[in-house]
Formats: sequence, C-alpha cells, structure tokens
Amino acid sequence: MNYWKILVLILLVPFLMQCTPAGKPTAGDPYDHRVDSVMATMTLEEKIGQMTLFTSDWDVTGPTLRENYKEDIKAGRTGAIFNAHTAAYNRELQRIAVEESRAKIPLLFGYDVIHGYKTIFPIPLGEAASWDLAAIELAASVAAAEAAASGLHWTFAPMVDIARDPRWGRVMEGSGEDPYLGSLVGRARVRGFQGEGFENGDKVLACVKHFAAYGAAAGGRDYNTVDMSDRLLRDIYLPPYKAAVEEGAYTVMTSFNELDGVPATANRYLLTDILREEWGFKGFVVTDYTSINEMVFHGNVADDKEAGEQSINAGVDMDMQGAVFYNHLKKSIEEGKVSEAQVDQAVRNILRLKFVLGLFDDPYRFMDIEREKRVVFSKENQDAALDVARKSIVLLRNENQTLPLSKTLRSVAVIGPLADNKVELIGAWSGAGNGNDCISLLQGIQNKTAGSMQVRHAMGCDFEGTDQSGFAAAVNLARQSDAVIVAVGEKAQMSGEAASRSDITLPGVQEELVKALVATGKPVVVVLMNGRPLAIPWIAENAPAVLETWFLGTQAGNAIADVLFGDYNPSGKLPMTFPRNEGQIPIFYNNKNTGRPFDAANKYTSKYLDVPNTPQYPFGWGLSYTSFAYEGIGADKTEFSAQDTVRIRITLSNTGARDGAEVVQLYVRDLVGSVTRPLRELKGFQKVFLAAGAKQELTFKLTANDLAFHTRDMTFRAEPGYFDVFIGGNSDATQSIRIQLAE
Ligand code: NOJ
Repeated sequence: MNYWKILVLILLVPFLMQCTPAGKPTAGDPYDHRVDSVMATMTLEEKIGQMTLFTSDWDVTGPTLRENYKEDIKAGRTGAIFNAHTAAYNRELQRIAVEESRAKIPLLFGYDVIHGYKTIFPIPLGEAASWDLAAIELAASVAAAEAAASGLHWTFAPMVDIARDPRWGRVMEGSGEDPYLGSLVGRARVRGFQGEGFENGDKVLACVKHFAAYGAAAGGRDYNTVDMSDRLLRDIYLPPYKAAVEEGAYTVMTSFNELDGVPATANRYLLTDILREEWGFKGFVVTDYTSINEMVFHGNVADDKEAGEQSINAGVDMDMQGAVFYNHLKKSIEEGKVSEAQVDQAVRNILRLKFVLGLFDDPYRFMDIEREKRVVFSKENQDAALDVARKSIVLLRNENQTLPLSKTLRSVAVIGPLADNKVELIGAWSGAGNGNDCISLLQGIQNKTAGSMQVRHAMGCDFEGTDQSGFAAAVNLARQSDAVIVAVGEKAQMSGEAASRSDITLPGVQEELVKALVATGKPVVVVLMNGRPLAIPWIAENAPAVLETWFLGTQAGNAIADVLFGDYNPSGKLPMTFPRNEGQIPIFYNNKNTGRPFDAANKYTSKYLDVPNTPQYPFGWGLSYTSFAYEGIGADKTEFSAQDTVRIRITLSNTGARDGAEVVQLYVRDLVGSVTRPLRELKGFQKVFLAAGAKQELTFKLTANDLAFHTRDMTFRAEPGYFDVFIGGNSDATQSIRIQLAE
C-alpha cells in the first residue's frame, strides 16, 4: 500500500468508527486518546464526580439528597444532572461546569422523556398497541428533537420491561407482555431517540431500563422481589433489553428489584456476565434512583459504603442520586475494596459518551434557545402526535356496528369524568408536558362536529368515591341524545411508578354510571382511558361499543373523535392480555399447557371454579370498522433444515365495506421440546392496509433461529421436530399449518 492510501485510511478510521453501531466500538475507538487526555488531568475526586448523577430541584421523583447541586457542579463533584431542562436553564448549569469547575468537563443532562418531551404522545403501552414500528420510531424521534433542543442529552427510555401483571402500574411505560413485540418496539425507540448521530443536536442517548426483570415484581406490587428461573429470564424477560443493546443503546439503567436474592444494582451476573461479556455492551450503566442505598433495606449489605462497593464491582458506572460513590468510594479505594482501575473504567465509559455527544467540542450544542422555540410543541409535532394517537386506539367491541357514529346525528351526549378532562390525558411520565395543552374528548368532538350537531356534556360522577348524585342529569342527557359517548377509566397517576392496584376494575362508581347509561337503550360508546389492562367484564359483555384509548397525549381528543366518527378506521391490537378478573393474574397468551389442560368433561383439569381460563380479550385483539378474512395458509416447504428459510403464506381479504389496516400475526407452537414449550409464541407480524374488497397474499419467513429457545442444557437453539404455525388477527388465530425441522 502506498503512502497516500495509508494516509487516507488513517483519516477515515475515526469516521468509520463513528458509523459503527452506537455503544459498540471495537479496537481503536476514535475517542480513546481524547478520553485518555482528559483522564490524565483528573483527580480521584473529579473521577468520582463523573460517576455521580444528581437531580436538580425540578421534577423530582424520589428523595432529594442534595440541595446544593450547583455547588457540586462547581466543585466537580457531579458530572451529570437530571430533571433540569430548557435550553436557558441548562446553559447556565453547563456554564458553571465548563467555566467555574477546575476540570471544565461538560455536564450530561438526563430526563425521563418517555413518551414525549412537551408534545406528548400516547403512553408507551398505547403506542405498542399500534404495532406500527415506524410510528413508534417517529414518536421517539420527535421526543428526542424537542428534548435535545431543550438542553437534554439523555433520556431514561426505552423502558422494555416485560410485564405479565396488569396490577403493576408501570405496565403503562413498556410494550406489554411479549418478548418479540417488546424487542421490536424497543429497537424502534432506540433508533428514534439516537438516530444516526448527534451532529445536529436533535438526538439523545437512549437508556434501556430497568435491567432486569423489573416487570416481574411479585404480586404486581412496585419495587417488590423478583425470582425466576434462568430459563424464564432468558427466554421471556431478557430479549427486549438485548435487542435494544444490539440496536446500539448507549446506556442501561439497573432495576430496583432483586433477582434470585441479589439486587439488580449489585448483580454481577446481569451487569457484567450478561450485559458486557455476552452482549458486548460498551456504554455506561447507571443505577435507578437511590437503588444503591436501597440495598441496605434489601438486606444484602450492612451499609451504604458496602452497597457502593458491591455495585461498582458488579458493573455499575454511575450512581443516580444516591450520593454513595460521592460519600464513600474514595474510602473503599483506600481500603482496597474497589480498585482504581475499576473506577477508571467507569469514568472512561462515561467520558466516552460525552465525546460521542460532541460536548467537549461544544458543550452548549444541545441548548439552542432559538431551536427550542421553533421545535418544541411545533405544529408538525402535533400532527405526528395525532397520527400516532389514532394508530394506538383499539376497538375492543362493536355490536351491531354501533361505531362509527354518523356525522348526521342531531345530538350526542359526552359523559363521564374523562369526557371534559385534559390534565389526565397526558398519562404518567409525561416529561415537560402540560395536561392543559391536551385536547379533551369533548373538545375533539366539538372540533369534529363544528356545530353540525348538538354536543352536550355531563360528568355523571368523579373518578373515585361513591357519589352517584350526578347520574340523574347524565341519564337525562343520554335520553335526550341520539348517541352517548361515555369516557371512563383511571387518573393518570393510577398507573406509572409506585402506582400498583390490587383491584383493576374501573375505580369508584364509573361502572355503575355506564350501566345506567346502557339501560337507556341508547347507542352507548364506552371510551376507556387507562394505563393498564382493566377488568371490565360487564362492559365487555353489555356495552354496545368499547374503545381502548389508553392515555393518548396532547392530541387525544382529536384522535378519538376521528375514530368515533369514522374518519379513521381503528387498527390497534392489544399488547397485553385483558383478564376477566384479578384472580386470573398472571394471565398471558404464551402460557404452557400443563399436564392437565382444561377439559370441561373432567373435573381434575387445570381451571378455576368461578371463572373461565380464557381472558376477556386475548393478546393481539382488536377490531376494525371493516372485516378481514384469512384463508389458504400454505408453506413453500413443510420440512426444512437448520439452514433453510421457510416461507409461510396466507391470503388476507378485506371483506367489509371500508378500507382498513390489519395487524396480521404469526404464532408458533413447538410441539415437543426438551423442556416444555409455550402454547403459542409471536414470531412475526405485518401491518397491512387493504382497500374495501381487496385481497393480498402475505408471506412470512421463518428460520430455525426464530424457533430457538433455552433448551434443557441451556443452550440456545431450535430442536428438530414439529411446529404448528398459526396466522390470524389475534393470538387465538385459527389458520394453521404444521412444519418440521429435520434432524
Ligand atoms: C425512578 C424510575 O424507576 C426510573 O424509571 C426513572 O428513570 C428515574 N426514577 C429517574 O426519574
């Protein structure tokens, strides 16, 4: 190779390195020498400062341990701040760091930008119900652009915890119960947040959380203990974290729970063996809020200092809000409980990302007051929020085509505690969103009908309590109207962190209100707003129509009105099973058969005496204003080898009178395994739009890798044998074909 070629290659290396998947540098990382040069100037205290993350006194979600965080910035005792935002405020904090601290290392600013910064999109569980990965990616990219313009570098998202228990309030923040859907949604969010790079100051670092298995808290009670087999962990709970890391997520947050007796924050098996060694993660690991300190309560350490030692030695790089590294790490090093090399590695992991963000080149890159004004809550972002909100709505029931409502009705009654409400519609974890910016359902209906019909409102009852004094006025209004829309559900703060419920029915007397309205005989549409699957057996069996709208965010009212009046044909599908009652929990579609599967003719089979085994609505459920038919399932080969790809085909027809989209789902059952296998597992889906009367042949590809699992000896592989493949519009899909993986 001649001199010039070598020179070109040398110049290209840093560029090529920046193009490798995020968080995954290989040898010769372009930032190495720059990180080295900063490290060489740092004192031990400053290094520990880089490993310390403190909250500002804004949006605090736990104990505030440090009042004087500005002093800490100046003294180099904290390298990162969260819950501080807006370009102006963060510029000032950044100024202190880069002008007044000795080492002049720029701060990293983090925040929970979970489903939007100021323009609020549907809660993540709702977005997952769209099964529309492009829409989910778009929502994350809008959130990133608004956050980045407002001085933020880092979002504490995506949350990818698999959740099989709707009592757990944090199901609203994830993608539900399925590892396949959860993995794809997690990847889409990482792409949306991080994009291709940070040059334009419109992307933020993602943080995959909560590692690991936080969603399996016993009894659905937040922060509770988790215990499970390694097989369940690896087959069901870990795949979405792994997928997000593979997609290049730069940071990972530990979870509050213990796993097999070891809190996740001190769990070397999770943080080092799996995350770094098996998955090759190269970013940094941050704890959840004071989760180091909480180990004293878990009871695996005697005090904070020991907790800090266990966590850094397990693989934690940054302490969120606990001030444990800040208070004790130096002593731990002096005592030889933690090596300086371990500290250096953590600091390198953190500084590297400050270089990746470009903060050493321009510490204010993300704090652009002009761009903030232009981007945050822009018309374009509102349009995106409306699009995603409409896609997230699930039509649960529609007897006698109650929906869509005709635009020529003379009058509608809009009833319920959520009918004229704005503030709840942004849902929990709504960043810098302001509930008062939301379009209420009433407003949305008024916008839609624009004076062409009489739109009247009665609240009927509150969310909670036993007061039924508003029922009479609501029922009267219903009687005088052509149709009734009743918006019931939860308050935003009834889901999210520290918001578990043991009773997941509609709170208060809301169900009684619905019953009273249905008793009028008028067409009643129940609009549910909630952060989790609810138990609504009466409504599911008696209300003429039911729409699940989650908390749809800023554009909620407009999105729901579009669906109510047929301007948008709903296509959402449930990402989580809806139980009939709490006694069925945990209930999820990918369960196993047991040795005594239910048989109505045999008492000694697996069942309850008082409720069927089946859910109210299965995973994947969702109706449309049109109907779809599935026929002609086939395969290009029914016997295949480990190297083959099998193509499964099916014909989907839109058999109704309206255009519409269907989420076509493919499930697999492995008939015999070295360990027992789930009855169904989602292995593919396609969201397909078909004009009324149109037909389309769809093809799904399957390889042996799609059929792999952790076998009896814990190797991950597909076992030869028969597999039933099902395709349909929900997890009860009936079209099936049997294929065989040859020895
Ligand atoms: C605690 C929550 O568990 C976590 O999800 C969040 O990112 C942090 N608090 C910071 O607000």
